[in-house]
Amino acid sequence: MNANTSSASPLAPPGLDDSALDWEARYRAGDTPWEKGFAAPPLTDLLTRHAIRGTVLVPGCGSGHDVRALASKGASVIGLDIAESAIISARSFQSAGGESYEQGDLFVLPASWHGRFDWVVEHTCFCAIPPRRRVDYLRAVNEVLKPDGHYFGIFYLNPDTEEGPPFRVSREEIARLFDPNFELLDEWIPEHSFEGRVGRELCQLRRKRS
Ligand SMILES: C[S@@+](CC[C@H](N)C(=O)[O-])C[C@H]1O[C@@H](n2cnc3c(N)ncnc32)[C@H](O)[C@@H]1O
Repeated sequence: MNANTSSASPLAPPGLDDSALDWEARYRAGDTPWEKGFAAPPLTDLLTRHAIRGTVLVPGCGSGHDVRALASKGASVIGLDIAESAIISARSFQSAGGESYEQGDLFVLPASWHGRFDWVVEHTCFCAIPPRRRVDYLRAVNEVLKPDGHYFGIFYLNPDTEEGPPFRVSREEIARLFDPNFELLDEWIPEHSFEGRVGRELCQLRRKRS
């Protein structure tokens, strides 16, 4: 699957739009401070006490550490990322067994993905996209989930930078965007986080309203 070409920059390689070029450029420059080399600690913790099975989408998967953590527990996981280099990196790791990776834009998903997933697992994709596109993010998540599908989000609330990415996220905004279509089942401040994010992340488990 290729990213949308409708807003292609003359500088962008064919098939990639400006935002893809930006992320791709950061991967090529090795400017990837989000790359920690292992799965998000709040996800690892959750997987010790809560099963995430079935079909799972991880949007903005980067090098796929979260994807492989989920696959190693028996889920069938697709990691999606707009940057080709992220996907190449993700595919270079030893397979956990049930995962695959697609290069593509979360905002331009194929119709065949509609209603396909039991879960969407979010980690630093929501805060990476421009805030004006958050409604589109919600639309995409809603579309790809099955009726009664579940969502697990690790939200990075208050990054250091004033200008993103990562862009600021508040609990109030999450509630405003998600509550209409996603019932909140549980939320907590994770006990373990990447260095520098302790106390600045919020985890939420939600279920799509049918
Ligand atoms: C901050 S990085 C986080 C990567 C990964 N979740 C991690 O924590 O290592 C954000 C990722 O989202 C990807 N991304 C940004 N916009 C996207 C979009 N519209 N569709 C798919 N992926 C996107 C970027 O290429 C990048 O890999």
